Amino acid sequence: MTSALCPGSFDPPTLGHVDIIERCAAVFDRVLVGIVENPSKAPLFAASERQALLEDVFREFPTVEVATFQGLLVDFAGSQSVDVVVKGLRGVGDFEYELQMAQMNHELSGMDTMFIATNPAYSYLSSSLVKEVARLGGDVQKMLPANVYAALKERM
Ligand code: PNS
Repeated sequence: MTSALCPGSFDPPTLGHVDIIERCAAVFDRVLVGIVENPSKAPLFAASERQALLEDVFREFPTVEVATFQGLLVDFAGSQSVDVVVKGLRGVGDFEYELQMAQMNHELSGMDTMFIATNPAYSYLSSSLVKEVARLGGDVQKMLPANVYAALKERM
């Protein structure tokens, strides 16, 4: 059985995240979505809220689990017995940052990272831009799962 960890902040989860996780679920037997809890940041949604939103999005996917973690990604990956970390790449900006993290994680633990090319329909999307646009009154409905859009509207 092969398992993959899709880590991220997911504050909030976008359709770009959902696309990567779905495509990962088509390849791996088990997909663990790992939501980082970063105590030094002030997220819009608490980690438990992000977890509930993603669990709702993937309720029809029996092989997708959602969990939160603190500390090093490689420690969480090791504790959950995952085989590989999977990240989405939107473009060269992502690549430089993601390559560095992948190499650091490999150096720390031997954990490999694989990349999935983001669907071009979502390559402009990021959680932080979605929050900024929503805060300034822009329409972000088509960028988010319906439950996330509803939660964001309420939170704003
Ligand atoms: O969605 P993001 O914000 O791009 O996700 C970044 C994430 C969560 C993958 C990264 O910040 C992370 O791995 N955090 C856990 C702490 C850690 O292991 N840091 C060292 C990374 S090399």
